[in-house]
Amino acid sequence: MEQIITLEKVDSTNKYASTNFDSLPDKALIISKIQTAGRGRRQTPWVSPDHVNLYASYVLKTVNFNVSMSSWVGGLATLYALRELAPQKEFWIKWPNDTFCGNKKISGVLCETVSDVNNKIKGIVIGIGININMTSEELKKIEKPATSLIVETGKEVSVIETAKILFKHLDTFTVETIKNYESLYNLWKKENKIVGKKVTIEVIGKEILTGKVVDIKPSGELYVVDEAGAFHTIYSGDVTIKSFIY
Ligand code: BTN
Repeated sequence: MEQIITLEKVDSTNKYASTNFDSLPDKALIISKIQTAGRGRRQTPWVSPDHVNLYASYVLKTVNFNVSMSSWVGGLATLYALRELAPQKEFWIKWPNDTFCGNKKISGVLCETVSDVNNKIKGIVIGIGININMTSEELKKIEKPATSLIVETGKEVSVIETAKILFKHLDTFTVETIKNYESLYNLWKKENKIVGKKVTIEVIGKEILTGKVVDIKPSGELYVVDEAGAFHTIYSGDVTIKSFIY
């Protein structure tokens, strides 16, 4: 697959894809065996031990998506890749685009826009990290409960095979989104097992709200009703599911 570009070592595949954006082909997937400064959402580091996990960035040049839609493409492609690799396990999306297995996170998506000197958006980089062969010991370095494919299935999985499967689903979802935005939104909303649940929302480590998720809006925001009956629209933040019945 000529559009998967494998690097030996890089600080962050997202940074590499943004810096080299103009010379990279559209819809190329950049992967690296080692990532020395992997970054997560909200300025957190992404724990990236050498050679064991997938660190990947997908280059989108010609598609006129916004950042939310691109992260749905990343989240759904990751979900479908994990289901293909471990059909016996149950995976789901936690808003906005983390993939969970049970109550532990197995992957995350970080989308970043790339702009020209006049601040005009040239495209988007969809960064995806999937914990593949990370041991329970290594997983302890992650602040929140996390898991990996090897811990869930007991079997070692090839990182490059995972990249190929992810690449296939990224391509399919990108094409589907161009054809039918609404069906992508409906699927992403359906896979987000959060509507109807009681949640707390944290922004930069500070709890700002507890309530029930009523809906996810077509532009991606959470719609939450608090215990006093007031409605809130949540654009970004860290969501913790408190209970499955409210
Ligand atoms: C999250 O916080 O959940 C998003 C994590 C995204 C990590 C991936 S690893 C490949 C790409 N390069 C980065 O520096 N980050 C993303």
